[in-house]
Parts: sequence; C-alpha cells; structure tokens
Amino acid sequence: MRILIAGGTGALGSRLVPMLVARGHEVFATTRVAAKAQQLGATAIVLDPLDRDAVCKAVLEVAPEVVVHQLTALSGAFDLKHFDRFFHQTNVLRTRGLDILLDAAVAAGAHRFVAQGYTGWTNERTGGPVKTEADPVDPTPTPASRESLAAIRHIENTVPNTPGIEGIVLRYGSFYGPGNGIGKGGDMAETIAKRKVPIVGDGAGVWSFIHIDDAAQATVRAIEGTQTGVYNIVDDEPAQVREWLPYLANVLGAKAPMKVPVWLAKPLIGEHGVSMMTRQRGSSNAKAKQELGWKPVHATWREGFLTEFNG
Ligand SMILES: NC(=O)c1ccc[n+]([C@@H]2O[C@H](COP(=O)([O-])OP(=O)(O)OC[C@H]3O[C@@H](n4cnc5c(N)ncnc54)[C@H](OP(=O)(O)O)[C@@H]3O)[C@@H](O)[C@H]2O)c1
Repeated sequence: MRILIAGGTGALGSRLVPMLVARGHEVFATTRVAAKAQQLGATAIVLDPLDRDAVCKAVLEVAPEVVVHQLTALSGAFDLKHFDRFFHQTNVLRTRGLDILLDAAVAAGAHRFVAQGYTGWTNERTGGPVKTEADPVDPTPTPASRESLAAIRHIENTVPNTPGIEGIVLRYGSFYGPGNGIGKGGDMAETIAKRKVPIVGDGAGVWSFIHIDDAAQATVRAIEGTQTGVYNIVDDEPAQVREWLPYLANVLGAKAPMKVPVWLAKPLIGEHGVSMMTRQRGSSNAKAKQELGWKPVHATWREGFLTEFNG
C-alpha cells in the first residue's frame, strides 16, 4: 500500500516506518527538517504540517491509500505544573494539524486515516482502577489539563466520524523503549536514576505503559486493518505509581524513590501532577486484543523495563 505518515521522525514514527517498509509498503513520511529526512528510511517529504497548502499539495501528489497522524511536540523536559502550556504546540498539531491532514487525506482519495491518541491521565478519575473505551474521558479535568484533554477529544470525535474515510484512533499508553523519555539515555529515566522523581502521597495513581515497538506493531495492524473507532494500546498490567516507580528505580540501579506528601509536591508539580501520581486511572487493552488481533510482546512493564535497561 501507499502510506503517508505525518511525523515520521518521532518516537513512534521512527519505529513504525521500518516495520512498514519491511512489510513491502511504499512509505512516505513528513518532517520539517531537511537534515532529518535521510534518516527516515522512507521517501521524505519536507513540509510544515500546519501549512495547509503545502500539506494538501503533498498529499495529493503522493495519493496515499492510508494517512497516519503521528505529530506531537513533546520533546524536552516535561513540565507537569504547566501542563497545557507544555502541551500547547502538541494540542495545535492535534487540532489544526489534524484537520488539515484529514481534509487533505479525504481530498486525495485516501480510504483510511490512523491517528495517535493517548490514554492515562485522560481517564475519568472516579470508580474502578482500570477503564475501557466505553468509559468516558475525564468529565472534570484538572484546570491545567483542559486544553490538552480538549485536543484529545477533538481527535476522538473527528477521526472516526469523518465521512468518506475510515478513521481509527490509537490511544497509546505511556511510551517506554528506545528513543523515549523512559528509555536508555532518556530524560525521565535519568531523572528517576538521580532519585529526583518521588512517590507523591499514597502513590495510588494507576499508569498504563506500552513498549514503543508494541505500539508501532498495533499501528501496523490499524493501518492494514478495517476497524474504526477508538482503541487503547497498552500493556496487560496497569500499575500504581508506588509499584512501578520503585521497580524502575531498582532496574536503573538507583535507590528507592523518596516519598513526599501532597502538600509539598503540589507547588512543584501542580494539581495535575499530583493527580497523575495519586488519582489517575489505568486502561484496558481487551478491545484492541479482541478486535485488532494484536497483543503486546512486552506483556508487562516489569519485563519490558528489564529488557530495555538491562537486556
Ligand atoms: N503516549 C506517549 O507516552 C507519548 C506520545 C508521544 C510522545 N511521547 C514522548 O514524548 C517525547 C518526544 O516525542 P517524539 O520523539 O515523538 O518527538 P516530538 O518532538 O513529539 O515529534 C514527533 C513528530 O512531530 C513532529 N513535530 C514536532 N514538533 C513539531 C512542530 N512544532 N510542528 C510540526 N511538527 C512537529 C516531528 O517532526 P520533525 O521531524 O519535523 O521534528 C516528529 O516527527 C518522547 O519521550 C516520547 O516518548 C510520549
């Protein structure tokens, strides 16, 4: 198939492109940076994904059967306290950037559109510890995350409901593995190794992780399949911060994380950061396993962290 990936140089895109090429697909990938183009392993298209004319022209020229949105702007140190501010450019790419690419895909006659979503802090924070796609996204998000949640909602409402094209949203859990913050040399791993990420309060926030290659494999399924709608792409073991953080610190050869009370953490990481540490819910992968015929090779972060850092 002819496949166009917007954001081919990112953490996910750079793992996905070689998988698709190896499966015999003809892959075109965008980047803004000419110097990054040759590392793509696909036919590179240098453009600004927010330039509507440039995107429409490029997509029309390629005439892809499938278009994939993997645009985020999440490089650099994560700012939990100013969450929407840190996510602002990502939110623009997930709203205006998505609309431009989707319009271009429809105009070019693509039959399928695959978009990157997210699951984790987006879940409602009441009720059971693990949520499915049938559960609502958080109806009362923290003030600092409203714009970012609205951008996620935009993807989920728009992609599967656009006439004339099959749309699927993959809600990836928190990435780890090569090229990620939780990966060899990654900034988050180094911060944890320096014992600078404490357990906040009771550490009861539930996180769902996914190895980057398992996320990429799910994306291959979504590209080649016919399913539409929203799918959680996470591993089999949602886990509380108080469980996975000490485990990861140990894998990294660090001392056990410190414990700090909520009142001390809040001025530093804000209400949203505290929520991620204490109230966030995890996500189920049952629907993706059943309907996409996908299952993660790294079924749990326990084995995945070991493989990444000590393998
Ligand atoms: N589910 C998750 O946990 C999740 C999801 C996404 C990212 N992340 C994390 O965020 C970190 C960075 O992610 P990443 O490596 O994918 O890099 P990124 O900086 O988010 O870039 C992703 C893609 O978007 C493009 N892009 C970035 N900023 C842009 C902008 N301002 N305008 C237009 N296009 C832009 C990049 O293309 P160019 O070649 O043009 O730079 C790249 O192809 C990693 O640690 C990753 O694990 C986590």
